[in-house]
Amino acid sequence: MSNTLIDAIKVRRSQYALGKALPQSREAVTALIQAAVKHSPSSFNSQSSRAVILFGDESLAFWGLVEDELRAIVPADAFAATKQKLDSFAAGAGTVLFYEDQDVVTGLQGRFPLYADNFPVWSEQASGMAQFAVWTALANAGIGASLQHYNPLPDAAVARRWNLPASWKLRAQMPFGSNEAPFGEKTFIDDAGRFRVFG
Ligand SMILES: Cc1cc2nc3c(=O)[nH]c(=O)nc-3n(C[C@H](O)[C@H](O)[C@H](O)COP(=O)(O)O)c2cc1C
Repeated sequence: MSNTLIDAIKVRRSQYALGKALPQSREAVTALIQAAVKHSPSSFNSQSSRAVILFGDESLAFWGLVEDELRAIVPADAFAATKQKLDSFAAGAGTVLFYEDQDVVTGLQGRFPLYADNFPVWSEQASGMAQFAVWTALANAGIGASLQHYNPLPDAAVARRWNLPASWKLRAQMPFGSNEAPFGEKTFIDDAGRFRVFG
């Protein structure tokens, strides 16, 4: 099968060996990330997704805040492994923080009470779509990335550090940078048990 979107989707992988080099300027990478989030779908076109894009020392500062939080709760003898993992994310060129604006969610719940229970779920789904779009766009620009979930540990410190609105809820973190190692093996379950086609 040949299809440009499927080909682009196949390029996206989790990259844990990140370096600081970027194949494009920070401005170009920013524009790419912004376009990916902007053109991702959202329920009722509510556009609840927000992104904070951190480069260089700002990204390092983020992983430092995560480290501070983890140091307080991870047993000292296990911290070396934790620190090594955090350092691998900090080794990249930057980090995208994915947020969902809860003011948008509660606004929709007020306007459409019939769907009130669905809006938080749809917001999560919209976030996932935005994350996937950014990840795929970065991969196709030759930029490695992985998806991390240290929220809610650093949320308050991050909101203070970058003066973010209280309504923004952190959902995921995507460290990115140069691909410094081949991707790991990936296996797939059988299509036969996964898909059912009728008609
Ligand atoms: C919803 C979701 C949550 C994930 N959370 C994490 C995570 O917290 N840490 C991590 O290293 N990878 C995380 N991943 C990445 C998956 O482990 C990875 O995509 C999967 O193993 C397939 O490998 P690939 O990304 O190389 O295709 C997550 C992926 C998804 C879709």
